Amino acid sequence: MGYRDLTRRRFLQRTAAVAGAGMAARSFLLEGGPLAASVLPVAAQAGSAPGAAPSDTVRFGMVGIGMRGAGLLETSISLPGVQCAAACDLYEGRRTLARQILAKDTVPITARYQELLDNKEIDCIVAAVPDHWHKNIIVDACAAGKDIYCEKPMTHTVGEGFEIITAAGRFNRIVQVGSQEPSSVVYAKAKELLASGAIGKLTLVEATMGRNDHCGAWWYSVPPDLSPQTLDWETWLGTAPKRPFDGSRWARWRCFQDYGEGIPGDLCIHHLTGIHYVLGITAPPKRAFTQGGLYRWHDGRDVPDVMTTVYDYGDFSCTLRVTLNTETESGFRFMGDRGILEIHGVEDPESLSISPQDGADQDACTPAWPMGDMRQQYVHAWRAAHSSRPGSQQVTEAITYHAPPLYDDTRDHLFNFFQSVRMRRPSVEDEHFGNNAAIAIHMANESYYKDSAAVWDGSAKKVRV
Ligand SMILES: NC(=O)c1ccc[n+]([C@@H]2O[C@H](COP(=O)([O-])OP(=O)(O)OC[C@H]3O[C@@H](n4cnc5c(N)ncnc54)[C@H](O)[C@@H]3O)[C@@H](O)[C@H]2O)c1
Repeated sequence: MGYRDLTRRRFLQRTAAVAGAGMAARSFLLEGGPLAASVLPVAAQAGSAPGAAPSDTVRFGMVGIGMRGAGLLETSISLPGVQCAAACDLYEGRRTLARQILAKDTVPITARYQELLDNKEIDCIVAAVPDHWHKNIIVDACAAGKDIYCEKPMTHTVGEGFEIITAAGRFNRIVQVGSQEPSSVVYAKAKELLASGAIGKLTLVEATMGRNDHCGAWWYSVPPDLSPQTLDWETWLGTAPKRPFDGSRWARWRCFQDYGEGIPGDLCIHHLTGIHYVLGITAPPKRAFTQGGLYRWHDGRDVPDVMTTVYDYGDFSCTLRVTLNTETESGFRFMGDRGILEIHGVEDPESLSISPQDGADQDACTPAWPMGDMRQQYVHAWRAAHSSRPGSQQVTEAITYHAPPLYDDTRDHLFNFFQSVRMRRPSVEDEHFGNNAAIAIHMANESYYKDSAAVWDGSAKKVRV
């Protein structure tokens, strides 16, 4: 049974249980997202139509053609009014892959991203490189006058976020971070429902994710032709500590603190982006406490395979639980005094459901009162005041909203970025948003590695442990 099937089966069981308990259930299909709803200038719809105004066709340079970048490249060139003007990767095999995806010989493909920044035909950059490279590529792109879509998490360290904010402001550039949740129709519906008070006062959020295979635990295969002859290893290391060529680190960088941030940076960043977006949060959490360990994957990695972080957001509490050792459901539960809103799935959620609760007593609340007149009169009066005549109870109805079939929120996220570039409108996930979510992941790691609560000190722009 696949991961998605597991999620769906659990969900159907839960819906059946709800219905069995006397709660009605309804299902709706959500409409398509920003791309489906868009009306583009005619020239942009024609993509590379000759004579299209420069403002209608957006030309991007692609940096990093790896697991994520290959998909971003493929999706971007399928969007109306978007063209790839050049692509770049440090590894020869990935440059070959770029050529295969682009299927034309006319697009320059290089190992140096500086060549893309110097190219006057390029309006913007899409970057999908390991996390320790994000800050330099964003700052360099801004300084070169290019807008940039950079993959999540925005930063590898807390200080980098403020450098990015300064650069984006100074060079007046559009930055969009690549956690796709703020462009998803499922998250948009969740945001609308929460804002309308559908679950009342929210006090607790739980989010989960669980995987159970080598790939899910980031132990990817190393291409046999990877060598210092086919990969520019020194440049790949960037600002990370110098070390001799190691193909395992190139392929499995998520497993090493020098390049990634483990579970928080790779996975919880999606939870945090989703939570910040649907709840309109514009600051990092106040405190974080993480517990976990490296229990299973003793393969040389230096990051844990199980982590649970409890965040204090001031007026609600939030727990994120991720394991790389067991396949489990993945999603969120937003809990309030009027019900629960669940999102099923995280990076590409299938649906959300809302199960209302009235929070009302079912009967007079008289635990262990002595039997006799006092109790009888009280219960009688309570029942008279809270009529329970048949038909008088409110019907509570669980509602599920499904994403459209084959819906791809990354497609909408890229589309939103190119629209921002084209129309000079703010990004849906700018550097401030990206920084707040990234700070939350750094707090989780600081707490884990220093074995202490991590507190955000906004005036010093530092995490205190
Ligand atoms: N939003 C999502 O759902 C999602 C999913 C997967 C990955 N990601 C993010 O995408 C980014 C890339 O992840 P990945 O899995 O594709 O990694 P990857 O290792 O598969 O690919 C990264 C590629 O970048 C190249 N590269 C590294 N530094 C470079 C540089 N300075 N110049 C040119 N090329 C360079 C590498 O050679 C490699 O081919 C990460 O930040 C990751 O967190 C996001």
